[in-house]
Amino acid sequence: MTRAAECDAASEGVEGQRRDAASAAAARWRAVWATRATVATRPDEAGLYLALAPMDGVTDAVYRELMTGLYDGRSGISVCVSEFVRVTRDAVPAAVLRREVPELERGGRTAAGVPVFVQLLGGDPEPVAQTARTAASLGALGVDLNFGCPAKTVNNHDGGATLLKYPRRIEAIVGRARALVPAHVPVTMKMRVGWDSCAGIEEVARAAEAGGAAWITVHARTRAQLYQPPVVWHALALARAAVKVPVVANGDLRELGDLAACAAQSECEAFMIGRGAMARPELFAQIRGQVDERMSEAALAELLIRYHAMLLASGVVASRALARVKQWLRMAADMDAGLAPLFDAIKVLPAWELVAPALSRGCRGSC
Ligand SMILES: Cc1cc2nc3c(=O)[nH]c(=O)nc-3n(C[C@H](O)[C@H](O)[C@H](O)COP(=O)(O)O)c2cc1C
Repeated sequence: MTRAAECDAASEGVEGQRRDAASAAAARWRAVWATRATVATRPDEAGLYLALAPMDGVTDAVYRELMTGLYDGRSGISVCVSEFVRVTRDAVPAAVLRREVPELERGGRTAAGVPVFVQLLGGDPEPVAQTARTAASLGALGVDLNFGCPAKTVNNHDGGATLLKYPRRIEAIVGRARALVPAHVPVTMKMRVGWDSCAGIEEVARAAEAGGAAWITVHARTRAQLYQPPVVWHALALARAAVKVPVVANGDLRELGDLAACAAQSECEAFMIGRGAMARPELFAQIRGQVDERMSEAALAELLIRYHAMLLASGVVASRALARVKQWLRMAADMDAGLAPLFDAIKVLPAWELVAPALSRGCRGSC
């Protein structure tokens, strides 16, 4: 065989393997989709795993309670991950974990019974692991480690996505947490595809697996991209092929059809959804086939009014509660331009007494 023929045969072999992997992934996805009404609480459990993404300053305990309580508690959400708790030199005390994740007082679940994983962010294995052990002793049903945060202040202080440059350190952090947390409590990790390219994604995924991560969630962007397009679902297939533990796909899942497109490109069949659910709180239930219709603007407005009441009831001050409602609607409008007029109608209103009626009126004639 000539060199050129050898080369052609080799690349056909690689292409053949890739096709085989893609068709195996398509078959897995069809099987999981057929069971989508079943809420898997782990990505390796029967049914479909759909996690609510952590969003610092957004998905607090009140938001988690509201979202998991939708449809009489049949929200379709498998698991919530808390906003990150920063761990620096010393382990975080139990009182702080209880404050940040109040569900710990209730067996680590929201009122609707959905498990809440405690997310920790730090670069030093020992205090992170000790904090993970404390979280587990308080009843956390899982501990997630954050290697995806792109914030400069965090990255400049040895936390979040900066660790993607040092897979051995990720292995050490995950490994130490795994060693201190009881075996029945999963230790998971969340990452981006890489710092400024996805070239190292396999190595990072393997490091997390070697450390003992039960599964790996990947936001399909580099740190350099922050939240800019394009979302690179296809890069997740590299991680998927590199490890045996499940890989959960995350990033820009905004409507029903996105799931199949992401599954085809990422070869993943478990998902995490964040911002998309702010414009479409029904998304989880819709994916499971429980609701057909999109939530109306009036129903979304009602939900925001309920959110505001729940924030006040939880002790949040009025100005902060108002800001939270505006933030939700601003993020929803970023996801779905159709909601921009409603956001425009409330964004400059200075008090809830004006915002509530504007929400109730919606855009009929007023915006
Ligand atoms: C305001 C905001 C705060 C976030 N905070 C966290 C966080 O605390 N921990 C984390 O792992 N990811 C955090 N993320 C990233 C999201 O969990 C998710 O990976 C990202 O938004 C992409 O998914 P989406 O397109 O479904 O929103 C945050 C994202 C946003 C927009």
